[in-house]
Amino acid sequence: MSGLIAAGLFLMLAAWSAHGAEVAKVASPNGRIEVQLDLDGDGRLSYSVQRDGKRIIAPSHLGFIFRNARQLLRNLSLSGQSTRSHDSHWEQPWGERRVIRDHYNELRAQFVEKDHDRRRFDMVFRVFDDGLGFRYDVPEQATLREAQIVQELTEFAIEPAATAWWIPALQWNREEYLYQRTPLAEVGIAQTPLTLRTEGGLHLSLHEAALIDYAGMNLQRGEGQVLRAALTPGSPTPVVRTTPFVTPWRSITISDDAAGLVDSNLILNLNEPNRLGDVSWFKPAKYVGVWWSLHLDQQSWATGPKHGATTENTRRYIDFAAENGFRGVLVEGWNPGWDGDWFANGWGFDFTRATPDFDLPALTAYAAGKGVHLIGHHETACAVSHYERQLDKALDLDAQHGIDVVKTGYVCDAGQIERQDTPDGPILREWHEGQWMSRHNQRVLEAAAKRHIAINSHEPMKDTGLRRTWPNWVSREGARGMEYNAWAQPPNPPEHAVNLVYTRLLAGPMDYTPGIVSLTGRNGQEIPSTLARQLALYVAIYSPIQMVADLPEHYAQHAEAFQFIKDVAVDWEQSQTLAGEVGEYAAIARQQRGSDIWFIGAINDRHARDLKLSLGFLAPNTRYRAEIYRDGEGANWQGEARFRMTREQRTVSRSDALSLWLAGGGGAAVRLVPVK
Ligand code: NOJ
Ligand code: CA
Repeated sequence: MSGLIAAGLFLMLAAWSAHGAEVAKVASPNGRIEVQLDLDGDGRLSYSVQRDGKRIIAPSHLGFIFRNARQLLRNLSLSGQSTRSHDSHWEQPWGERRVIRDHYNELRAQFVEKDHDRRRFDMVFRVFDDGLGFRYDVPEQATLREAQIVQELTEFAIEPAATAWWIPALQWNREEYLYQRTPLAEVGIAQTPLTLRTEGGLHLSLHEAALIDYAGMNLQRGEGQVLRAALTPGSPTPVVRTTPFVTPWRSITISDDAAGLVDSNLILNLNEPNRLGDVSWFKPAKYVGVWWSLHLDQQSWATGPKHGATTENTRRYIDFAAENGFRGVLVEGWNPGWDGDWFANGWGFDFTRATPDFDLPALTAYAAGKGVHLIGHHETACAVSHYERQLDKALDLDAQHGIDVVKTGYVCDAGQIERQDTPDGPILREWHEGQWMSRHNQRVLEAAAKRHIAINSHEPMKDTGLRRTWPNWVSREGARGMEYNAWAQPPNPPEHAVNLVYTRLLAGPMDYTPGIVSLTGRNGQEIPSTLARQLALYVAIYSPIQMVADLPEHYAQHAEAFQFIKDVAVDWEQSQTLAGEVGEYAAIARQQRGSDIWFIGAINDRHARDLKLSLGFLAPNTRYRAEIYRDGEGANWQGEARFRMTREQRTVSRSDALSLWLAGGGGAAVRLVPVK
């Protein structure tokens, strides 16, 4: 009995000290989200978040563990605080929407250690109507000159029971996993963005913004529903920074529904404004290339009889692009280094010259005559220092040849990036999302921007909205893309692309490479998708560069579907998620930039469903011709039924609702053109 009383007393004390005393707070402009900072009896700092008076984040600790100094997390006191409000609009040079509102209340709370070295840091919270971001701002100080950060002790103690959509972190295959849907309490160590739906139906996305000169943050589950930052490793410490420095923003997007997560601009708003000025030299566009035939193993990256990147074959693709109005032609395998086991020999790649059977100057001239641009390809196979040594020369070569988009690649297992600081120094191993790679990406971006070249990185560091600051980082992979449908077991199941909309895509654009109208991978493997869905992907998965990924001969066999691919826009005036549930379906409407034409893309999981989409987003007093590409009767993602597609036309206006049936693994693509 007395044991029980003692235990009860202990719990009460623990609860009291965990709560601590409120030292600062700030609310969103509409007042619905409130953030509170507490210091407990030990001087431990925590934050908590409420929405509509209900707690979503229970008190969650903040702090650092250093390699070269004592940890910074106890004995803290508040030394000052200030608040400010901000409300402005800014324009994206390209994007899902032209105008973005940046509206928040900010709290800066300053903390100092009560004893020892009296080290200091500020916590900055920005609270928007659709969530919040916070970061550590560590000023210059004599007692903390260099911070070797072993771990950031940031916690996210999710209060209501929640379901999570997540992929594992720190596993061999980087970001290329199928999403798991589990109770949050069963998450192990996850990457961000991590998506949550609470029992009450609230939707949350945990991620980060402005990941610059720092390690990517993963989330490791502690007890119950507590998630803790787990920084990506680095040699020898995840992060080394000299004060003053700021961490990336830790972000929590909050919405009543799934659509609200997709339409949020929180991540972009937390990034710094454009530093490149006028980037009208980057043209959002569609592109074609030998890519799919390489993944089908019909052609090869390596030189020899199957070589895809030959002068003759590339000419064929330039013709195909010009005939159909596509701007880009991607040629992988154009440079020396692919012969043999390139995976294992990134040090053999040369980015400064082409293979003998690829006449770069002649092709450039040929393409230019047709208004087409070659897209460069720099596959590093993770010999990143080797790539950096060639970077300037390689980008000069591209610029000389009118190549203004370069796809980069970092194929190797996680943790196997090869870094060599001096020509005969040791090879150090780094992670794709480590601090060293964030610096590498910065070097590439800046070197490319100087030459008016845009970057599309594969096996990238996760997107944290840096496209706002460096709008030449136009797209990236960073998830299981279409290539898995060529050769993987299993291929991407129907729910995968839908999951992407509510997870990976919350971070930013993805080069998924849609449009495989042949719906067939290597050795006849069926792609789990209907034909209409391949079209819908161009709208549902946002990227300012979209590949028209299938072979020209396959498009010739699907002229009707190809028409939509030719028509669909890649740059948008505005975007709106019309309906959807995480992992089940998504229907997104987008208005073409500089035009009155709208598009809708709807994609579905494996369960057929009926959608009724309000067209209230259309302009008033205008009738539109709706060109509808939808799943035909009996369509399904398996067997011959996946090719069943119906194209029909209707006249609609904003007072109408569009009824669409989506097959299992299906979708619908609609183009809405104003009629006089
Ligand atoms: C993996 C990329 O995702 C793919 O698009 C590319 O073709 C290969 N690496 C070769 O670089
Ligand atoms: Ca890949």
